Amino acid sequence: MTQDDMKKAAAIKALDYIKADTIVGVGTGSTVNHFIDALATIKDKIIGAVSSSDGSTERLKSYGIEVFDLNNVDGIDVYVDGADEINPHMHMIKGGGAALTREKIVAAVAKTFVCIADDTKQVPMLGRFPLPVEVIPMARSYVARELVKLGGDPAYRQGVITDNGNVIIDVHNLEILDPKALENSINAIAGVVTNGLFANRPADVLIIGTADGAKIVK
Ligand code: A5P
Repeated sequence: MTQDDMKKAAAIKALDYIKADTIVGVGTGSTVNHFIDALATIKDKIIGAVSSSDGSTERLKSYGIEVFDLNNVDGIDVYVDGADEINPHMHMIKGGGAALTREKIVAAVAKTFVCIADDTKQVPMLGRFPLPVEVIPMARSYVARELVKLGGDPAYRQGVITDNGNVIIDVHNLEILDPKALENSINAIAGVVTNGLFANRPADVLIIGTADGAKIVK
């Protein structure tokens, strides 16, 4: 089984969490693309989706799934998204696809966050994957200097502009002993929109794709 097969197995299993006549929160990335493909097979059962990126919106619409503005929905029952890393406390690093801010917003609204990932994403401690930080362009150098003070090695993600018109700084070599505290500290830097730590809003359910199929961790 390839890594992509494992992502697909986790994505298909996430359909078990989708209730009839609800609006589904949809994340971003290659694992979520498999989920969107699977969601299309039950599209008549749901009302539609709220999307976390232009890329996911386009894919959802290509299947005829209606995509709602978050401001026009009463609530979201389930949000399904991938992760770059997830620890045993269900804290995650996300944003490898640069969609972290909208992902964090939709995750905040959803009652249940279902994380779908292949088993390479499970880690004992977060931080090997560089932490993405979305930054207002004029604050890029200032934010980078502040991230150095927090112990990281910031690298500007060249050529990437987020769906919100901002830039991404990837922070390498962080020792993330307290994910909630670090998430809050980075978000307090002027010019930071948000960072890719999802510790204050962890996943509620993790579906891991393994060589033996999808496994559920709660
Ligand atoms: C997108 O910005 C990310 O948060 C993704 O959820 C994360 O990078 C996982 O992506 P893959 O599913 O492509 O591994």
